[in-house]
Formats: sequence, C-alpha cells, structure tokens
Amino acid sequence: MSEALLSIRGLSAGVDDKQILDTVNLEVPAGEVHVLMGPNGAGKSTLGHVVMGEPTYEMTSGTIEFDGQDITELSPDKRSRAGLFLSFQAPVEIPGVPLTSFLRAIISGREGIDMKRKEFRKRVRALADELEMDRVYLDRELGVGFSGGEKKKVEMLQLLLLQPKLAILDETDSGLDVDALSVVSHGMEAYQRQCNGTLLVITHNTRILEHLDVDRVHVMVKGRVVAEGDASMIADIDANGFEQFEQAASAE
Ligand SMILES: Nc1ncnc2c1ncn2[C@@H]1O[C@H](COP(=O)(O)OP(=O)(O)OP(=O)(O)O)[C@@H](O)[C@H]1O
Ligand SMILES: [Mg+2]
Repeated sequence: MSEALLSIRGLSAGVDDKQILDTVNLEVPAGEVHVLMGPNGAGKSTLGHVVMGEPTYEMTSGTIEFDGQDITELSPDKRSRAGLFLSFQAPVEIPGVPLTSFLRAIISGREGIDMKRKEFRKRVRALADELEMDRVYLDRELGVGFSGGEKKKVEMLQLLLLQPKLAILDETDSGLDVDALSVVSHGMEAYQRQCNGTLLVITHNTRILEHLDVDRVHVMVKGRVVAEGDASMIADIDANGFEQFEQAASAE
C-alpha cells in the first residue's frame, strides 16, 4: 500500500469502446493541494468520475487506493463514506426539497459528522455566514433558480459540512464571475484550514488557486499524465499554454 492518501496506478478507462484514460499514475499525499490541468477533452473530468466510481465509465486496468484501502471495486456511496468528495460541475436541482433537508440527508448516519437537529441548524447557519450566503437560501428549494455563484456557495457549504478527507473539485466548465470565483477560493481555503483537507483541483482558471499553496501540478493530455511539477508550472501554463506538452505527447 502506498503512503499517499490517493494513489492511482496504471489506470485506463473509457466509455463503450472508446478509451479516454491511458495508464494514468497520480498520487496525492494527505494535506497537500494538487492541481490537474490540461486542454479541453484531455480526460480530467473523466478521471474525477472514475475515482468516484461513476458507473458510466469502465475501468479496463489499474488500481485506485484511498486512505490505505483498495477502493477499485467499491460503489460510489462507499467511496464517499470512505471520505472522497467530488464537486458536481452542474449541481442538482430538486424541486420541493429545501436545501437544509438535502444537507441533513447527506450527513445522516455518517460517523463523526451526523448531529442533532439543533446543532445542525447552528452549524449550517455558521457556515452560511462564513460563506456570505443569505440564510434565506437554506429554506429554499434545492438548486431551483440558484445562480451560478449561489450554486457554488451550496457546493462549498456541502464540502465544509461533510469534511471529506479528499476533495476533488472540478471547476472547469463553470463560467464563474469574479465573486463566484472568490467563493470557491474562500471555500477551498476554509476546507484546508478547518478540516486539514487534501485537494485535487481541476481547473483552467488559475485565479481560484491564488490563495492556496499548491504543492504539485499534473498535466493531462489525451488521457495521459504527461508532465508533473511544482506550483511554478501554473504561471508557465498561463503564459505558454499546453502546446509544449501536446508536442511532447504526440512525439511519444
Ligand atoms: N460519458 C461519455 N460518453 C462518451 N464520451 C465521453 C463521456 N465522457 C467523456 N467523454 C469523452 O472523453 C473525453 C474526455 O472528456 P473529459 O470531460 O474528461 O475532458 P476534460 O479534460 O474534463 O475537458 P474540459 O477541460 O473541457 O472539461 C472527451 O473526448 C469526451 O467527449
Ligand atoms: Mg472537464
């Protein structure tokens, strides 16, 4: 077993006959902040889904270890209960279900974070205040009529309430304005500070990383991790794009 909190080895996966991920190796040690970058269609979101056990994708080779356990065959629910969290690129809308009921349902029965109703209300209100989210939203129907920024606040509230061991945040297609970006950025910081969290952030928008100390950057091109390095890679990618890596990938 690996020392890392998340250890992906030789992972290949796809949909139907189409291969999307090709022998991916990636490790995230506990407490670190990692970033996964790469051009559109490289397979970044797919990797997030495969790590969560999303049944749309078929793993054709490799193993995924998490927190000292081989989770390759576990159901998404068991992975979540083991402490994995994947943000939804498009959060759900459930008419008729107030946000608080949804939040209470997701922590129900979870060791260490399930709490009595009164305590729960208090905790959720405190988190809403911290995320500068109007408390009115707590009683509104889940996701219905929420703006992009409000949905992000809900997502960050979920993250801080669940306190997963590892959060994979897929921020790629979110088209967020400056305020919403600051919500995500603040949420990630709070998660690290309050929960001693471990992050794998998938993004094209490096502004959301400004307040984080990034430990490692992984670059994915055409389903493969083709380069890894320290935080200085982010500025390099911002300035020069992915062409350098695409050339290296096709030269192989
Ligand atoms: N459910 C699916 N069915 C068919 N093809 C899929 C499916 N999911 C992903 N793909 C394909 O796999 C490839 C990788 O997609 P993915 O969404 O993982 O890329 P990405 O790196 O997240 O891109 P972006 O930066 O645009 O978010 C794309 O060619 C995509 O069309
Ligand atoms: Mg994506």
